[in-house]
Amino acid sequence: MTETSFIHRFEPARDAGSPPLLLLHGTGGDENDLLGLAKMISPGSALLSPRGRVLEHGMPRFFRRLAEGVFDEDDVRRRAHELGDFVSEARERYGIAAPVAVGFSNGANIAAALLLLQPEMLAGAILLRAMVPLADAPKANLAAKPILLLSGQADPIVPASNSARLAALLSEAGARVEHKVLPAGHQLSQADVTLARTWIGNVTAEAA
Ligand code: MLT
Repeated sequence: MTETSFIHRFEPARDAGSPPLLLLHGTGGDENDLLGLAKMISPGSALLSPRGRVLEHGMPRFFRRLAEGVFDEDDVRRRAHELGDFVSEARERYGIAAPVAVGFSNGANIAAALLLLQPEMLAGAILLRAMVPLADAPKANLAAKPILLLSGQADPIVPASNSARLAALLSEAGARVEHKVLPAGHQLSQADVTLARTWIGNVTAEAA
């Protein structure tokens, strides 16, 4: 791979019918963080799991922020394109189809940015505790892409109005968005796992 490459883990598919997943961790996480979750929601999927290349006080992230919830949007754009390049290279190297992103927190935000900037890179997305990544988002064509957005009712980082705006933005771009607000905070709950598993099962069945 080129210099755009990310430290990452790849696990091949155990069931060719399951979509490959692109796992994107939250701030301070790494490429190992979401492997367990991914295996719970789609045990047969190939897993591509990069580590964010931006360090905030030593904690890996996928783009720079100026403060909590205030993003360096030039960096969001640049890093989303870098991630898109990585996905293309990894698809070639490992022979996988366009993946469904599974992102948590900062990882969900870069997944949302990638959907808006380079929609062809992803087959769909599960966005866990995501927010609007770009104030001035380009007009994307997300033609019928399936997206599951799971928000926490008591999330201190993502206001309800922000996740509702993200759902609207993605729907207006043509995506098939399912947005659920769970009785949870920023952390994941059992309901996230159950809903994500059901959703990915439906997406896989539709594609079959
Ligand atoms: C972000 O910076 O992407 C969001 O504030 C979520 C987080 O990483 O805490």
